[in-house]
Amino acid sequence: MTIFSNTTRIPPLIFLTFHLLLLLSLGVLEAQAKCKTGCRLALASYYVWEGSNLTYISTIFGKQISEILQYNPQVPNQDSIPAGERINVPFSCDCLNGDFLGHTFTYETVFGDTYDKVASLPFANLTTEDWVHRVNIYETTRIPDGVLINVTVNCSCGDRSVSKDYGLFTTYPLRPGENLSFIAAAASGVPTELLQRYNPGIDFSDETGLVFLPARG
Ligand SMILES: *[C@@H]1O[C@H](CO)[C@@H](O)[C@H](O)[C@H]1NC(C)=O
Ligand SMILES: *[C@@H]1O[C@H](CO)[C@@H](O)[C@H](O)[C@H]1NC(C)=O
Ligand SMILES: *[C@@H]1O[C@H](CO)[C@@H](O)[C@H](O)[C@H]1NC(C)=O
Ligand SMILES: *[C@@H]1O[C@H](CO)[C@@H](O)[C@H](O)[C@H]1NC(C)=O
Ligand SMILES: *[C@@H]1O[C@H](CO)[C@@H](O)[C@H](O)[C@H]1NC(C)=O
Repeated sequence: MTIFSNTTRIPPLIFLTFHLLLLLSLGVLEAQAKCKTGCRLALASYYVWEGSNLTYISTIFGKQISEILQYNPQVPNQDSIPAGERINVPFSCDCLNGDFLGHTFTYETVFGDTYDKVASLPFANLTTEDWVHRVNIYETTRIPDGVLINVTVNCSCGDRSVSKDYGLFTTYPLRPGENLSFIAAAASGVPTELLQRYNPGIDFSDETGLVFLPARG
């Protein structure tokens, strides 16, 4: 009886190992298939809040003011960008972990920071509490002051199956009151139907969340 159970126990183990390896390699293949490369340039639509300014935005994103201004011909005077307007901030859109397109910025925490606060104020809702939490080791309630944390902002490099005419995309956090036609106008008249196809499943009147807007280039 003992001999019998010994001989039957070994084959299932080998069988299991084989299946485990197969599952693992399939998992790796699946992860690789999501993105291979990113693109050199994407834009982040930064909603300028009362008290923020170009110097601050330049620090947050690690970009020179002059470089940011190249993507904002509408800004007449860099010393006073009005609160309530949006600034385009250029960044590189990387294929992170072979899994999704984004860029991880480094942010130095200040007293009182939470993942929620960092996402909604310094990063102007370009990311979310959950998405920031996922790339950092600290517990939500134990983020030290004056340390560097990761902040990942998603991006898009386009979709050839939707259109080949657009290669530059803006990561745009929706604000309350911004509906599909408002956004289409903001994206210099991109057809609403195209906007919807680039953002499948997104309800533009849902008030919050990220959308990707095509820009020429
Ligand atoms: C720019 O904004 C930061 C952050 O709000 C603030 O600390 C700084 O004093 C501001 N600088 C100017 C020149 O307004
Ligand atoms: C981000 O969203 C929160 C909640 O909707 C809002 O209170 C906050 O003002 C937003 N931040 C910016 C910079 O618009
Ligand atoms: C960023 O993209 C990932 C993968 O598609 C998604 O799971 C995540 O929710 C996105 N984050 C934000 C803040 O939209
Ligand atoms: C930021 O991300 C890097 C790379 O994934 C990781 O090694 C590091 O621990 C992260 N930083 C924090 C504060 O979690
Ligand atoms: C979209 O928003 C604009 C301006 O906020 C408004 O005038 C228009 O009626 C809205 N359209 C729809 C379909 O809700």
